Amino acid sequence: MDEKKTIFSGIQPSGELTLGSYLGAIKNWVTLSEEFNCYYCIVDMHAITVRQDPAELRKRTLEQLAQYIACGLDPKKNTIFIQSHVSAHAELAWVLNCYAMFGELSRMTQFKDKSAKNADNINAGLFTYPVLMAADILLYQADLVPVGEDQKQHVELTRDVAQRFNGIYGEVFKIPEPYIPKVGARIMSLTSPESKMSKSDKDPGGCIYLMQRPEDIMRSFKRAVTDSETVVRYDPENKPGISNLMTIYSIAANKSFAEIEGEFAGKGYGDFKLAVGESVVELLRPIREEAERLLKEKAYLESVYKEGAERASRSAARTLRKVYKKVGFVGR
Ligand code: TRP
Repeated sequence: MDEKKTIFSGIQPSGELTLGSYLGAIKNWVTLSEEFNCYYCIVDMHAITVRQDPAELRKRTLEQLAQYIACGLDPKKNTIFIQSHVSAHAELAWVLNCYAMFGELSRMTQFKDKSAKNADNINAGLFTYPVLMAADILLYQADLVPVGEDQKQHVELTRDVAQRFNGIYGEVFKIPEPYIPKVGARIMSLTSPESKMSKSDKDPGGCIYLMQRPEDIMRSFKRAVTDSETVVRYDPENKPGISNLMTIYSIAANKSFAEIEGEFAGKGYGDFKLAVGESVVELLRPIREEAERLLKEKAYLESVYKEGAERASRSAARTLRKVYKKVGFVGR
């Protein structure tokens, strides 16, 4: 039998993947591939809780798939799939909606943030978004869920709902745990280093995108916010901009903070920013080139998402069948 623990994670195709998505999530996913049974999903159903342009959404979903693979996620070793291709997600989400409480969903900080930002479209999907996420995770009996700090509350809700369900019907769901990687978990915006580098950021200068051209990457690094000192020193509290650049450089160039501080002792921020920019250009070059190549291989991409959906469906069906039986639905 398969003794490996199971991992589930997903990213919404609601914007272009960023350097933050890569260093904070996908790079770690690749490392986890060997040791765990991994499901990596492109959560398009979550994306429509905010209005999307249909053609753009379709394009970004396929781009995201190509980028997952270009970042090193091997479709043979991981189950990579598109959420809307596995109908069990919507089906389990409905059932779990009846076990998630209005009060607990009202307390989700992301719901409060997103309803403030989309005041003209506070739809029910935005409200029950964490329930769909719980369905994603619980369908595969995931042990661990790699997420950023901002998603921890949703994983906790998933645990609460799963425990409530198990409390009534017996051990149906594995209780998952959030898995927050220590290094590189949080890459911040280059222009406002107190907030996370996010694909939904309104300020494009703050983000580095996986598919960006070298000259654009360099321009963003040259404009990155620093501080009024001239010392390259790691101090996230007082020097958020420089510390963020150091985090990026330490991963991209594989150097420790002490080495970086030594390398730029007595030099200006200009030199430092150039070095960080160049290291990122070289880090992303092979990813961009491979993703561009894959995007031309439509048949290959299709075979990946079809196989992924088949494998995911098989495993999801087992959980869904159990749930339907427990709640009293007549078997088909
Ligand atoms: N809500 C997550 C985010 O915006 C994406 C997501 C959806 C997810 N379903 C998931 C992450 C399941 C982990 C597990 O980042």
